[in-house]
Amino acid sequence: MRDAVRFVLDGEIRTLSDVDPTLTVLNLLRYDLRRTGTKEGCAEGDCGACTVALGELDGDTVKWRAVNACILFAPMLDGKALKTVESLGGDHPVQTAMVEHHGSQCGFCTPGIVMSLWARGRDDAPPPAIDSLAGNLCRCTGYGPILAAAEAAEPRDEADPVAALKTLAGDAPLALTHKERRWFAPRTLDDLANLFVAHPDAVILAGATDVGLWVTKQHRTLDTVIALGDVAELKMIGQTPAGLRIGAGVRYSDALSALAALHPDLGELVRRLGSVQVRNSGTIGGNIANGSPIGDMPPALIALGATLVLRSGGETRDLPLEDYFLAYGKQDRRPGEFVEAVVIPAPAADSLYRVFKLSKRFDQDISAISAGFALTIKDGRVENARIAFGGMAATPKRAGACEAALAGRPWSEATIAAAAAALEQDFEPIGDMRASAAYRMAAAKNLLRKLFVEAGGERATVLNAGPVDV
Ligand SMILES: Cc1cc2nc3c(=O)[nH]c(=O)nc-3n(C[C@H](O)[C@H](O)[C@H](O)COP(=O)(O)OP(=O)(O)OC[C@H]3O[C@@H](n4cnc5c(N)ncnc54)[C@H](O)[C@@H]3O)c2cc1C
Ligand code: FES
Ligand code: FES
Repeated sequence: MRDAVRFVLDGEIRTLSDVDPTLTVLNLLRYDLRRTGTKEGCAEGDCGACTVALGELDGDTVKWRAVNACILFAPMLDGKALKTVESLGGDHPVQTAMVEHHGSQCGFCTPGIVMSLWARGRDDAPPPAIDSLAGNLCRCTGYGPILAAAEAAEPRDEADPVAALKTLAGDAPLALTHKERRWFAPRTLDDLANLFVAHPDAVILAGATDVGLWVTKQHRTLDTVIALGDVAELKMIGQTPAGLRIGAGVRYSDALSALAALHPDLGELVRRLGSVQVRNSGTIGGNIANGSPIGDMPPALIALGATLVLRSGGETRDLPLEDYFLAYGKQDRRPGEFVEAVVIPAPAADSLYRVFKLSKRFDQDISAISAGFALTIKDGRVENARIAFGGMAATPKRAGACEAALAGRPWSEATIAAAAAALEQDFEPIGDMRASAAYRMAAAKNLLRKLFVEAGGERATVLNAGPVDV
């Protein structure tokens, strides 16, 4: 075990001893390392002013990702390389392009924008510039020149700290204590399971895109943290007879292509979840474990009949995903038990599967409502329906009455009208800053109608014979 964080900054190995486990990387940079180019805008992962790049060893190369330093804890740097706007030197092609295209507008947003563009330039398959920048908010409305700079910036050959990262890979696992607060970063699933049994009150930490805000916004103190980011077994994605198995430590950006291959709507859902920075840290396991009623993944996965794999000590159990959510803030998870993986069956070849998300902004916004629909329609009749909504109840929840109003009935406008009315038996949504109760109910009904119309209305019976000609 080792009690000091070791990471690489501009090619040099740095050591942080006696570090506060929930010190954010943003505060480490600004107050301890005096790298004040990285700014604080929101301290909750929304604005991108704090964007830095994290590098991880990927064979003999380094994979760089843009992340939000404001909700990243200092021990999460362990074993990785960090690049800040200061690392670019001022004359990097990204910086020059920003100057030449008048993209540099204010000193708060620009460093984060530059770092997002730098990381984009290091991506083998970069997303469109508009996606790369969705997590960098500019309040003075000057995106045009920034997008022009993104297109113009040429990548430059840069030396990566492969040797230094290989040295760090030989370090023992991290287990640090600071003023009686502890941080463990086990490397194996067995060690993680044993640690959590020994410390059942610990906070399990994946990407910190939820937990980070407990500290920066709610000012909570976390006594013991068990971070799962170094557990290789939890980062696996693989096909099993029951479906696609995604380990609880897999980040959205690593799951995106496998989910998009399962169904394009799942890919689109992940593309709209948070920003590049959030997707580079956050995990699907964290989204499920967190149990939020407005988490985007659960409704989409419940509709497919996904199963959660939970582990406690040496025991695992499988649970239908919908049964995990018991009540607001309460999940079916026993002391010392954690989410190991989620197994997602592919949509049946002859089924109609759709996922919808409604939010005030298209990108980088939490849902007011999300929905997953999986229907089998044969010979003009609905054989089977699995429907789940987020944002309509205290948990992600199946729409049992709506499903019953569809099953066995003709696939027709009349059936859809009856099933839409049945949603009133399923849900009594609340009103909040994202949407009023009335909006939520009206929108849920309209999503069902949208499903019907976009599938070609009653002609969707040809689904079983092949693609629908809409
Ligand atoms: C700017 C921003 C935008 C966002 N946008 C969206 C959005 O569009 N849609 C959406 O759904 N969410 C969104 N989120 C919320 C968040 O990104 C997701 O919920 C994310 O999936 C959380 O994953 P994480 O790995 O960061 O979890 P963490 O923050 O590490 O953990 C979240 C919770 O899950 C627990 N946990 C994590 N892993 C496990 C495990 N394996 N076993 C048991 N418990 C575990 C933690 O203890 C904690 O309670 C956003 C967040 C931010 C900051
Ligand atoms: S300060 Fe706004 S995303 Fe970090
Ligand atoms: S660049 Fe900062 S507000 Fe527009």
